[in-house]
Amino acid sequence: MGKGGLEDVVAAESAICAVDGTEGRLIYHGYDIHDLAEHSTFEEVIHLLWYGHLPSKEELNTLTKALKTNRRVPDDVIKAMKQFPKDALPMEVLRTTVSMLSMYDADAEDNNREANIRKAIRLTAQLPTLVAYWDLVRNGKEIVIPREDGSLAANFLYMLSGGKEPDEVSVKSLDIALILHADHELNASTFAARVAAATLTDMHSAITAGICALKGPLHGGANQEVIKMLIAMGSLANVESHLDKMFEKHEKVMGFGHRVYKTEDPRASHLRKMSEELGKRAGDTKWFDMSYKIEQIVKADKGLNPNVDFYSASVYYMLGIPNDLYTPIFAVSRMSGWAAHVLEQYANNRLIRPRAEYIGEMDLKYVDIDKRSFSHSAT
Ligand code: ACO
Repeated sequence: MGKGGLEDVVAAESAICAVDGTEGRLIYHGYDIHDLAEHSTFEEVIHLLWYGHLPSKEELNTLTKALKTNRRVPDDVIKAMKQFPKDALPMEVLRTTVSMLSMYDADAEDNNREANIRKAIRLTAQLPTLVAYWDLVRNGKEIVIPREDGSLAANFLYMLSGGKEPDEVSVKSLDIALILHADHELNASTFAARVAAATLTDMHSAITAGICALKGPLHGGANQEVIKMLIAMGSLANVESHLDKMFEKHEKVMGFGHRVYKTEDPRASHLRKMSEELGKRAGDTKWFDMSYKIEQIVKADKGLNPNVDFYSASVYYMLGIPNDLYTPIFAVSRMSGWAAHVLEQYANNRLIRPRAEYIGEMDLKYVDIDKRSFSHSAT
C-alpha cells in the first residue's frame, strides 16, 4: 500500500498535459501555460487540447463557429430549471442539467470520435449557458438568448449580466482564467471522468462524473471557500487574527497546498497579477491586499503556496461574479480538458479497475438474525 490517495501513482499515459510539481511547470500539449495565458485565447486552447496542435486560422474559425452556434440549451432543460428549488446550489444544477442534456442529444449513445467531438463542442458551448441561466432563473430574471458572436468568455458575461455588453478587461481576465483552468493532468475530476469513460459509457456520463468530483472543497469547490474566508475576515486588519484562530483549530486554509506542486503553482502567479490589476482598476485593492497578506502568513507558518483556487476567488469577486458560481466557472473551463481526456481514453481504452488491499475480517460464520448480539456498533 502506497501513501494513500494514489499519491505519485502513474495511472495513465497521456499526451495532453504535463505537470512538473518540482519546477512548477504546466504544459498543454508541449506549450507552457505562461505562453498560452499571455498569447492565446480559450478557444485556441480548446483546439490544442482536443486536436493536439494550435489551430490554423481556418481551423480556429471552424471550431469557434461551431462553439458559437451550439450555445442554446433545449427548452425542456430551461423549463426543468424553473422547477428547481431557488436555493439549489449552482453546482447541483450544473450536475443535473448536464446529465439531462444527454436525453436531448442526437449523438448521446454514439461513441465514435466524430460524434464525441460534436458532443464535446455542444457541451463546451452549453455549460456557460447553463451556469448563467441558473443565476437568472433563481433571481427571477428573464433568460437571455446566447449570442452567436463573441468569445465564450464574452458571451458568458453577457448572459450573466442579463444582456449587457461586457467590458474588454473583464472579458480578457475571464478568458485568461479559463485558459489557466482548462486542464491539469489526472486531477480528481479528470480521473473520475476517465474512469467513467473507460467503461465505454457515454460522454455526458463521463462529464457528469467529472462535475461531481470537481464540486468538493478539496478540489474545485475550494475557490468558493476562499471567498467565504475573505468575506468573513472583512479587512486587512483581521487577516492575522483570523488565520491564528484557524491554525489553532487545525483548519485547512482553502486555496493553499497541492498534491503535485511543491513550489509555486504557475497558474497562481497569473491570477495574483490579475487580482492586483483588477483591484487597481476598481480603485480598491482590498481583496488583493488581504489575499497577499494571507499568502505571506500561510507560506511563513505552514510552508504552503497558493494554488489555482486562491487568487481566482478575488479575481471573480472583482469581476462581479456571484460567489457560488466560482466552481461552476471552473467546470466551464475544465469541460475542455475533461473532453480531451475522455477522447484520449476512448482512443486507447482499457477498463480502469484497480485493486483494494482488504483490511477487514475473514471467515466469520453467518448468524441467524434472531441470534445476533448487538454489542458492536453497526458500521
Ligand atoms: N491548510 C493547512 N494545512 C494544509 C493545507 C492547507 N490548505 N493543505 C495541506 N495542509 C497540511 C495538512 O494538514 C497535512 O498536515 P499534517 O501532515 O500535519 O497532517 C499536510 O499539509 C499534508 O496535507 P494533505 O491534505 O495530506 O495533502 P494532500 O496532498 O492530500 O492534499 C490538498 C492536497 C487536498 C490540495 C490540500 O492541500 C488541501 O486540502 N488544500 C485546501 C483545499 C484546496 O485548496 N483545494 C484545491 C486544490 S487545487 C485544485 O483542486 C484545483
